Amino acid sequence: MKTILTQSIATAALIFIAANTTIAQGPQRPAHRPPPPHRPMPPGQMPPPPPQQQPPQQAGAPLPGLTAEQLADFLAGRDEFVNVETAAGGLGPIFNNVSCVACHRQAGTGGAGTINVVRFGRTTDGAFDPLANLGGSLLQRFSIAVGTREIVPPEANVRAERQTSALFGLGLIEAIPEETIIAGVKRPLSTAVRGRVAMISDPLSGTTRVGRFGWKGQHSSVEAFCGDAYLNEMGITNALFPTENAPNGRADVLARLDTVADPEDEADPETGKADFQLAADFVKYLGAPPPRPRNADALAGQTLFATVGCADCHTPTMKTGANSVSALSEKDVPLYSDLLLHDMGALGDGIVQGPTTGREFRTPPLWGLRSSAPYLHDGRARNVDASIRLHDGQGSSARDKYAALNATQRRQMLAFLDTL
Ligand code: HEC
Ligand code: HEC
Repeated sequence: MKTILTQSIATAALIFIAANTTIAQGPQRPAHRPPPPHRPMPPGQMPPPPPQQQPPQQAGAPLPGLTAEQLADFLAGRDEFVNVETAAGGLGPIFNNVSCVACHRQAGTGGAGTINVVRFGRTTDGAFDPLANLGGSLLQRFSIAVGTREIVPPEANVRAERQTSALFGLGLIEAIPEETIIAGVKRPLSTAVRGRVAMISDPLSGTTRVGRFGWKGQHSSVEAFCGDAYLNEMGITNALFPTENAPNGRADVLARLDTVADPEDEADPETGKADFQLAADFVKYLGAPPPRPRNADALAGQTLFATVGCADCHTPTMKTGANSVSALSEKDVPLYSDLLLHDMGALGDGIVQGPTTGREFRTPPLWGLRSSAPYLHDGRARNVDASIRLHDGQGSSARDKYAALNATQRRQMLAFLDTL
């Protein structure tokens, strides 16, 4: 299903590219990439959901309390997030989809998605090689030209899928001070569950920072993740990620197909912002997933969540620090994550990314869980119960205690998780 869906999106995109644009003959640099107009989509194109004013309690709505200017940035960012990219505007040569919302759409614009991306590499004697010279570790499944899309090369002996995460409330997560996350390591936990901080090299600041976004904690800021997505999901180079991906490392194919000068995503002289920065404004100002009221069952489940040991990693709440955006300042963030890396044993995907080993994942936030099925990094768990039973490594003790609950208690725990 997933493959067919992705395939049809890309096919539609390719038909559109073939029918509506000519791939430029030589390097061209649009004055700046045209702003996404509110225009009817060309025929055959997957229409993005129309921007709509939503009541604040719905997923996809802006944070409450934004100023008029911030709300305008949120809306401009959302236009960019749903904008369908074309080859003339820099899409590709290789890419995974044609817009951010094509993947991030469940429950609202910016939501989770059932489209997975693929990573590959080669492990020899315990050492991981991302096969960067062969286009790894991230696969770009589609290309603007027939016969040039990437494949998982025969040299790879590790292949792993990753599910599209929901982006609701990421500005709040970004506003949690690094010290709060670091302090989480020092809680009085046994070493059997203690996590560790993902110290990553941040392309935005050029310094080493606490990674808090992505399944492997691979980025520390929303803006860096958005720049990464523009390049690696859509093939659009930008100030943070200026180098185009060559299809399976083939520089000659890249040279033939890549006709738009880099960086493709340039700052608009009027706003001073590039598209990835507009998209980052949208993501930063996206409100948290709305909780549901808790009945007696859910409240009993909340207690069990702590006694069974789930809260050791899925920290119920953290607080943002002082922030120049008042909607993000000193707020409670009921994310249900410690934002730390944990060794998850058999769940490990074998992909080493930055400081994160092949068996580690960042504890995923559980807020909004009811709108992000399927579960776990590759979507292997169809429901929440299955995802808990698949915990391993540092999660095995909590898993066993969950499995030992009686049917009523398990129902209560699931009722609680359904309210987050
Ligand atoms: C092909 C599908 C796809 C497209 C297109 C896509 N994403 Fe994603 N996105 C993902 C996946 C998969 C992840 C999880 C990746 C990981 O952690 O390795 C993700 C994660 C993210 C995250 C971090 C989420 C978190 O909770 O830590 C951000 C931010 C993000 N994407 C923004 C964007 C933006 C902005 C765009 C458009 C430029 C975009 N994405 C386009 C699939 C996609
Ligand atoms: C040792 C830390 C740890 C403990 C303890 C733990 N988890 Fe997790 N949990 C994780 C990590 C890490 C993942 C991501 C694993 C993956 O994607 O392969 C995860 C994933 C999940 C997911 C899937 C989230 C999603 O978006 O796909 C759910 C639901 C979940 N945990 C619930 C629980 C519950 C309930 C308990 C208690 C029985 C628990 N966890 C105990 C670390 C932990």
